[in-house]
Amino acid sequence: MATKEQVLASLEAVPSPEGTPLPKTGTLSEVVASDGKVFFSITVDAAEVKAWESVRKRAEEAVRALPGVTTAMVALTAERKAGAASAPPPHAGPPPGARGGPRGEAMQGVPGVEAIIAVASGKGGVGKSTTAVNLALGLASLGLKTGILDADIYGPSLPKLLAIREKPQMLGGTRLKPISRYGLTVMSIGFLIDEDTPMIWRGPMVISALTQMLREVEWGALDVMVVDMPPGTGDAQLTMAQQVPLKGAVIVSTPQDLALIDARRGISMFKRVNVPVLGVVENMSYFLCPECGTRSDIFGHGGARHEAQRLGVPFLGEVPLHMTIREKSDAGLPVVATEPDGEHARIYREIAARVRDQLKGPGAGRAAPKIVIEA
Ligand SMILES: Nc1ncnc2c1ncn2[C@@H]1O[C@H](COP(=O)(O)OP(=O)(O)O)[C@@H](O)[C@H]1O
Ligand SMILES: [Mg+2]
Repeated sequence: MATKEQVLASLEAVPSPEGTPLPKTGTLSEVVASDGKVFFSITVDAAEVKAWESVRKRAEEAVRALPGVTTAMVALTAERKAGAASAPPPHAGPPPGARGGPRGEAMQGVPGVEAIIAVASGKGGVGKSTTAVNLALGLASLGLKTGILDADIYGPSLPKLLAIREKPQMLGGTRLKPISRYGLTVMSIGFLIDEDTPMIWRGPMVISALTQMLREVEWGALDVMVVDMPPGTGDAQLTMAQQVPLKGAVIVSTPQDLALIDARRGISMFKRVNVPVLGVVENMSYFLCPECGTRSDIFGHGGARHEAQRLGVPFLGEVPLHMTIREKSDAGLPVVATEPDGEHARIYREIAARVRDQLKGPGAGRAAPKIVIEA
């Protein structure tokens, strides 16, 4: 297996545009080398990105040539010049050209992919990934060619939720072939990093890795791609929302007040970057007793519906807290695929149909209503 030191040694032969050996340029992130997979990023001034693209390619080739390396992913990241604002101020509209501006390269869309939608939540553990998977399966069951991209660098969960143990294959040395499961085209950042890889996937490296997962993966023709976003509404999430050419966002929340505050922040974040909010899903909305079928509203069911109404965004549906959903989900057997005739699958399909209608209906593409949200 290649070590970090061997990787750095191989990069000595790769010069910067000025001719300096790459490891001496001060542009490299930490190098992660584990189990034959190597990742790092090169961070350069935004104005110099073009000149560095060939350096990135050469670095990747140099690392890939090392014995024992199966995957090499080098991300090129543009850093704003000092003094430039790092994020738009709250409640402000996006800066002119923010979508398709200097970062426009990432906003060109993914060839062959009709619509990319984000599934997001204000915080982790609300069932974002479970919802993303079953929503994607629901969209597929409606006849849409559907892909799912796991961009949750804090907790990639698609390998588990879809019981995928194989690694994606390289196609022609540069592009990755996604995995197929239950009729979905699947790619996860979790395929590329081990569960115990240290959490150095922060900031710019992450964003660039996302761009590469969109662009260097052979997605093929898709009607819709569902992106399982990292939870939260911080700078990393905001930048990701700006980096991906999103047609819309689905917000997942549980009904509790605290979760709703986070969901509100999520809605506000997408509005700030002019991404239409397709709607809110209330997950773990009510409890269905598996024995007797009795329903109880342990978390104060209905909170997300009210919140959606208050904020003027569509409400997409309620998913009960149910042991079957958990067990199936955690076993890699998502209910929409494995119990298509069940009640849960029906609920997810209805949510998927509303999402599809939002994407093509009059609400889609309409400018977000001007509502000031106290985040
Ligand atoms: N509606 C539900 N009913 C029962 N368990 C659920 C439901 N939605 C999610 N879970 C479970 O809750 C846990 C967290 O869900 P997950 O989708 O991983 O959340 P997130 O992606 O927001 O962190 C998982 O164990 C999952 O199986
Ligand atoms: Mg998750």
